[in-house]
Amino acid sequence: HFIYHLRGLNPIAQRIKEQFNCSYVSIVPGDSDEDETVKMQLGKEAACYLKKVINSGDVIAVTGGTTMAQIPPAMEEVPGVENITVVPGRGGLGEKVEIESNTTAAELAKKLKAQYKLLYVPDNLSPETMESVINEPGIREILKIVRSADILLHGIGGAEEIGRRRGLSEDEIKKIKEKGAVAEAFGFYFNKNGQVVHMTSSVGLTIGDLKNIRIVIAIAGGKNKAPAIQAFLKYHSPTVLITDEGAARKLLELE
Ligand code: F6P
Repeated sequence: HFIYHLRGLNPIAQRIKEQFNCSYVSIVPGDSDEDETVKMQLGKEAACYLKKVINSGDVIAVTGGTTMAQIPPAMEEVPGVENITVVPGRGGLGEKVEIESNTTAAELAKKLKAQYKLLYVPDNLSPETMESVINEPGIREILKIVRSADILLHGIGGAEEIGRRRGLSEDEIKKIKEKGAVAEAFGFYFNKNGQVVHMTSSVGLTIGDLKNIRIVIAIAGGKNKAPAIQAFLKYHSPTVLITDEGAARKLLELE
């Protein structure tokens, strides 16, 4: 942590914490837009934080993405903690399998020696199909567990970039941009004031469930993501933010 103090990241974390009413802010040195190894550090930092706050019996919901995928490799079993369940925060099979929430959930569970439940429901089903899928007893049971999550660990992305990565059509992307979407997290799109302007039609956590979650941990870095992080922090508080220097410095510039 020598570098941390050397670069003066502590006062920056403190300022972000106060400005956005975060419960905790951790900043790793560097910028993950420029250096992939910084993402690994984000994963380590998130794993370390999770270890400290996890309790026996917790349900942990995770999302997908390249940043979240760095958490399981850094995770280890937490002594004295039992009966943990890891689930994806939302269904959605739109991502590459390596960075899908189901994969991250299963890998995190393996490291924690926990159980896991997965959701195999694609994004963007027609409303009628969605309705019948969520009424399947097996899915319904898993959804109940997801929606009772104690801890949510999630990535944040730029609305356009993530919309495209998750297979939205150009037309849909244009529409969400017109609504002012700048950020995406767990299937919700936010404008710069932190208002939800669009939702992916997938199953899982709903906006209303968030207030029942004990700890919401957002993990996102790289200065290009600063506007998206800003939007999310305006939407939700108190959040635990695990970010990097590039995003953190830019975030304060934007405010
Ligand atoms: O698609 C899953 C997801 O967690 C999104 O909700 C989020 O916006 C994105 O991944 C972040 O991805 P990355 O960490 O690769 O930038």
